[in-house]
Amino acid sequence: MVICKTVDSLREYLTSLGSSPNIGFIPTMGALHDGHASLMRAAKSQGQFTVVSIFVNPTQFNDPSDFAKYPKTLPEDILLLERTGVDVLFLPDVSEMYPEGTQLSEHYDLGYLETILEGKYRPGHFQGVCQVVERLLKLVAPKKLYLGQKDYQQCMVLRKMISLKQLPVELVIVPTRREIDGLAMSSRNMRLNEAQRKGAIALFQALEEVKHNILEKTNASFSSITSAAQHVLESKGFIVDYVSVAQAPDLQLVDHWDGKVPLVVLVAAFSGEVRLIDNELINLP
Ligand code: PAF
Repeated sequence: MVICKTVDSLREYLTSLGSSPNIGFIPTMGALHDGHASLMRAAKSQGQFTVVSIFVNPTQFNDPSDFAKYPKTLPEDILLLERTGVDVLFLPDVSEMYPEGTQLSEHYDLGYLETILEGKYRPGHFQGVCQVVERLLKLVAPKKLYLGQKDYQQCMVLRKMISLKQLPVELVIVPTRREIDGLAMSSRNMRLNEAQRKGAIALFQALEEVKHNILEKTNASFSSITSAAQHVLESKGFIVDYVSVAQAPDLQLVDHWDGKVPLVVLVAAFSGEVRLIDNELINLP
């Protein structure tokens, strides 16, 4: 695997591949786990020359302590990338990604998508995500961008950014990888202590409960179903930002279902200082 630490060295290396290589790109913030590896495997199985970036992007953290405590496991990350057969690792530092400083140079018109769920609870977060991913996409020029479904709203936001900027890249969304007990794999899981890790399964159980109730209790409003799930999580010590149901294609929050459009149930909650998110799709019965 080739490791490039500067924009110039990456550009030079990718240029040496010749015209229009089939690059599959996976942007990450490191602390890699099998969820990330599943994105890399998807790219490789689709015959892509696989480029991964590791960059903990300061402009997407609305909480400075979350940024400071973001897990860093570079030696293990490099082993995982080598084992998975990744071709290039791009490992820039902040001055490489933001030579003119980290202030936002433009505003992305994300509309409704930025006013709900993560957008509401993490103001500015998606502007930072768009800023860094646009830069990375322009640099790497991949044919395909691989993102994990765990960050469902991020996938929708980046789809919108790609369309706003008319970037010639196809977005591939890869299903969430889960631990054996159902917890969605996430770099932030590394920050949970033993008791919190055991308890974190409650998020997945809440999603399953909401999904079950939506499919079974056809007359109940979604708000009554999600409130019940929120109370269960709170009784287990979580501070809940939201348990919500939305239409999967456009994230419009809904309280009833016409049974036609696929839905997505989304949750965000703190276990101690660690904020976890997860979601599950509900397809037509
Ligand atoms: O999902 C992430 O890890 C980050 O938001 C991303 C897409 C790498 C941008 O920094």
